[in-house]
Amino acid sequence: MNFSCRYAGGFFGREEMENLQDLVLEAHNRLHDGTGEGSDYTGWLDLPETYNREEVERIKVAAKEIREKADVLIVIGIGGSYLGAKAAIRMLTSPLRPFCKCGGQKIPKIFFAGHNINGPYVKDVLEIAENNDFAINVISKSGTTTEPAIAFRFFKDLLERKYGKEGARERIYVTTDKEKGALFSLAEAEGYEKFVVPDNVGGRYSVLTPVGLLPIAVAGIDIDDMLRGARDEMIASSDPNLDHNPCYQYAAARNILYRMGKTTEVLANFDGRLQYFAEWWKQLYGESEGKDGKGIFPASVNFSTDLHSVGQYIQDGLRNIFETVIYVKTPDGDVTIPGMEGNIDGLRYLEGRNLSEVNENAFLGAIMAHKDGGVPCLVIEMEELNAYNFGKVVYFFEKACAISGYILGVNPFDQPGVEAYKKNMFALLGKPGYEEEGVKLRERIKNL
Ligand code: PA5
Repeated sequence: MNFSCRYAGGFFGREEMENLQDLVLEAHNRLHDGTGEGSDYTGWLDLPETYNREEVERIKVAAKEIREKADVLIVIGIGGSYLGAKAAIRMLTSPLRPFCKCGGQKIPKIFFAGHNINGPYVKDVLEIAENNDFAINVISKSGTTTEPAIAFRFFKDLLERKYGKEGARERIYVTTDKEKGALFSLAEAEGYEKFVVPDNVGGRYSVLTPVGLLPIAVAGIDIDDMLRGARDEMIASSDPNLDHNPCYQYAAARNILYRMGKTTEVLANFDGRLQYFAEWWKQLYGESEGKDGKGIFPASVNFSTDLHSVGQYIQDGLRNIFETVIYVKTPDGDVTIPGMEGNIDGLRYLEGRNLSEVNENAFLGAIMAHKDGGVPCLVIEMEELNAYNFGKVVYFFEKACAISGYILGVNPFDQPGVEAYKKNMFALLGKPGYEEEGVKLRERIKNL
């Protein structure tokens, strides 16, 4: 993996970077010695070294069991209890080949639920579950989040009707707190197999815990390789010297750009397999930095698709944007543009050339155009998309996010803003204890 500010030249340079060294060092020290805000939630920092080996082995056994007994796995969770697994599975398995084999074993098709409250969606996934052998992995750190709790009711009910209570018990895998929460209590009472979300790892930093590892392992992805990649990045990004640490350079660059009025960061890719990685990244940065009236707004685009859509805005709209491009250098699988009689489409000059070559030139062409249009580009090059590099890039962004948050002057590990909508929703739904609030809120809505 390689990080470069080359395409941001002309917007800032070496001097601005050097000026941030002291702040970066301070952020590094606060993160590593536990004196920074939110230090109770920095368990992810040395997780690739200290993770529970016994539990990871149990995850592999459970994943094998699930592959044997189910054609479909329903993964129930929201936010940090959903996006990491979705990102890895989208990046490393092809949705166009859902039932491909892994070491001679069938891989269940994985569907997500509990990340929305959408009736038609849930109805469709229930129908799929009804018509296939299925298992559930329900994931909630708090064990009390409304969206996944509702979804779990539906799928637990279906499972029990289909396989009986005993049969259902063998098909429910719970990932939650080690000793508290409604989901923990239910799992204890019913005897479901449980995996633990470490106390000191917040949802959006939890993909390399059982939260992400179980569904990722079910999908046939090598979780040992993933943890190895994360460990290598943990070592690579531990140097406080900005000159030697690309992860810190990324954190510093985004702070320099933010101070220049670049308040929106667009994470761009030229490989659709990164689409959900961008969703994971948006949660990580949005929840970590967007608070106290501050923070860079995280957005994402999939190129070249979006070059024919919001690409117009990036090129020519309000100049408060910078772009971070993740570019995959070696596509696994490529196709050569075929010949065609005549040259009616004007593409003879491309005949015999690979799509990856065209894509690379779209990448270079777009970032140069954006740079010329006033959009600085930061570039992260990945050699290829594999489990090892997934672990590496996850850790890179997690570490950079923590450093960036401290430089910005916020606590990158809390998310107080998430509570506001919940309070209103509970009041409007008449949750016990919220009745009075609900009456007032309805009155306010009526009078708008
Ligand atoms: O990052 C976070 O902490 C949140 O996005 C949570 O992951 C999300 O709200 C889900 O919470 P829980 O796992 O407790 O159900």
